[in-house]
Amino acid sequence: MVTGASSGVGRAVAKGCALAGFHVVLVSRDQRRGEAVVQALAAETGSGELEWQGADLGDLDSVRDLAERIRGAHESISILSNNAAALSLGREESPQGIERTFATNYLGHALLARLLVEPLSRGAPSRVITVSGHPRTIARARLDFDDLTLRGRYSALRATLNAALARVLFTVELAERLESRSIAAYTFHPGFVRSSLPSNLPFLPRILGMAAMRLLSPECPTGVMLAVEDTVPGPSGSFFLGRKAVDFRPGYDVRSEARRLWAATESLL
Ligand SMILES: NC(=O)c1ccc[n+]([C@@H]2O[C@H](COP(=O)([O-])OP(=O)(O)OC[C@H]3O[C@@H](n4cnc5c(N)ncnc54)[C@H](OP(=O)(O)O)[C@@H]3O)[C@@H](O)[C@H]2O)c1
Repeated sequence: MVTGASSGVGRAVAKGCALAGFHVVLVSRDQRRGEAVVQALAAETGSGELEWQGADLGDLDSVRDLAERIRGAHESISILSNNAAALSLGREESPQGIERTFATNYLGHALLARLLVEPLSRGAPSRVITVSGHPRTIARARLDFDDLTLRGRYSALRATLNAALARVLFTVELAERLESRSIAAYTFHPGFVRSSLPSNLPFLPRILGMAAMRLLSPECPTGVMLAVEDTVPGPSGSFFLGRKAVDFRPGYDVRSEARRLWAATESLL
């Protein structure tokens, strides 16, 4: 199951999973675009095992509805790949009043993983893999636990970096909590993958951003490696840069920040 599968990193991971012979559930919001990608990937991979499911990862009710549909239709899940992402220049809120980038990139996925633990357990050994960003950029993120959803100081960069850090901390805590169920969790920098994120920007940056995207590859070898290779070259909870598990932020107290975020997430949910 791959979120954000109609474009960018999610599309690349979905393609890798299809090529590896999995039944792949592609999740995104826009039905026309999602179904067009199912058709395109069927042609590119020869797979007849692709389906699209609609959900807004930034809306907790929509995530609950998605999880219910998935649990009703699929006995087990072997890979949950979290990629759906929002980018918004101004501060927007989800239907639950949560800042939208945090809600989509992090909180919705944190809820989805919780709701899919049982099918992931039945698919074990299974994996939850979550895209983040480059360690150098995430190093600038600071989670303010008194204002996780940026009511005080919003910028698109701050929201994106905070959500990327939250995804890493989520992976660390998830790995520990799900170890006994043989569900591994990994996070990674995807490299530079052709993306539709600039399509959310105003006219000039959008045109320039989309033109630059054409120069990038649509493939994401790190994401595909984590999803489909039999052996992952690092322990559960690791951050991957290329094929290597790395310390994403030396000197940072990942364990205690991860626990703190987990507790804050429980209250938000
Ligand atoms: N691409 C890169 O080179 C790169 C590098 C570093 C980090 N990253 C990170 O990787 C993540 C994914 O980036 P990307 O390049 O793959 O972006 P992208 O090409 O824009 O893809 C985003 C995907 O998420 C879906 N989506 C957006 N909002 C959604 C929502 N509320 N609910 C459900 N699905 C939603 C989109 O489809 P719909 O619009 O149809 O819903 C689309 O399928 C981002 O967090 C980005 O910061 C990417």
